[in-house]
Amino acid sequence: MMLVLVFQALLWPAVSALFTVDMEQSAYEARLHEDIQLVCTFSQVKSLSDLHVIWRRIDPKPEEEVYRYMRGRKMQNFTDPQFRERAHLIQEQLNQNRAVLQLKKLRIKDSGIYQCIVKVKDDGGYDGDYKDIKLSVTAIHNPVKKNVQKTESKDEVDLSCEFEGYPLPQILWSDGQNKNLTGKSRNSTQSTNEDLFNVTTRLAVRRDLWRNYTCSFLTEGRVRQAATFIIPREFDIYL
Ligand SMILES: *[C@@H]1O[C@H](CO)[C@@H](O)[C@H](O)[C@H]1NC(C)=O
Ligand SMILES: *[C@@H]1O[C@H](CO)[C@@H](O)[C@H](O)[C@H]1NC(C)=O
Ligand SMILES: *[C@@H]1O[C@H](CO)[C@@H](O)[C@H](O)[C@H]1NC(C)=O
Ligand SMILES: *[C@@H]1O[C@H](CO)[C@@H](O)[C@H](O)[C@H]1NC(C)=O
Ligand SMILES: *[C@@H]1O[C@H](CO)[C@@H](O)[C@H](O)[C@H]1NC(C)=O
Repeated sequence: MMLVLVFQALLWPAVSALFTVDMEQSAYEARLHEDIQLVCTFSQVKSLSDLHVIWRRIDPKPEEEVYRYMRGRKMQNFTDPQFRERAHLIQEQLNQNRAVLQLKKLRIKDSGIYQCIVKVKDDGGYDGDYKDIKLSVTAIHNPVKKNVQKTESKDEVDLSCEFEGYPLPQILWSDGQNKNLTGKSRNSTQSTNEDLFNVTTRLAVRRDLWRNYTCSFLTEGRVRQAATFIIPREFDIYL
């Protein structure tokens, strides 16, 4: 056994590099409904006819197969139905040692970890490698919808802001002096049929104070959307 290994090591030239797969980017961000291309590169191969490329999504579970290309052909019967019409391998790029997965009409649920596996036939058998790539699909739909409503109390009105998007934002209410009023707000969250979050937040404020109030929606510490109420001007618009 040892002898065989030593013998092989001697026979293989030192330059015979290992077959490797690499990625251009380890993470991609894209918007809902857009298209995206996830790119893997691989070592030079002698012939494309011996090439196997498999793209699958390994997280979230269960794993789903996204695309399989074997011996010059697409093998669609392995593909999960949710990807069947939307996933393509750009075959022209295989010549340039690139296994490019195109995903069309992105859905929120396409987010996750994708794995690209490339295998080639060599003298002994199959040699292969893989890499994992993260895809995040985000969405911010419409501008914030704001509203002012009467409450039971004569002295107060309810300001409300409605956000639709993904991921779930943090809410921040402030007044014209940048005072944090979030603690006084109430919110409710629903899922839309496109897996977006519909978040409505309300803040009861005094009618008689001339103030400006701003509701902001943040993700990763950045304000993505905001709307300002100018009191009392908004009373004329809404009440
Ligand atoms: C997929 O289709 C190919 C031919 O197109 C066939 O050889 C193979 O057995 C099929 N595999 C499965 C799992 O159905
Ligand atoms: C505002 O207050 C809320 C709690 O009331 C807190 O969670 C949040 O971190 C505060 N935000 C800022 C920007 O101070
Ligand atoms: C909504 O309010 C609840 C309870 O106060 C809080 O736990 C949750 O984080 C809030 N949701 C958002 C999106 O801020
Ligand atoms: C979002 O939720 C609010 C109240 O919870 C509802 O009135 C509104 O119709 C919802 N919007 C969408 C687009 O689902
Ligand atoms: C509210 O904002 C408007 C427009 O930015 C400004 O003219 C006004 O002075 C502000 N009012 C208060 C009470 O801060």
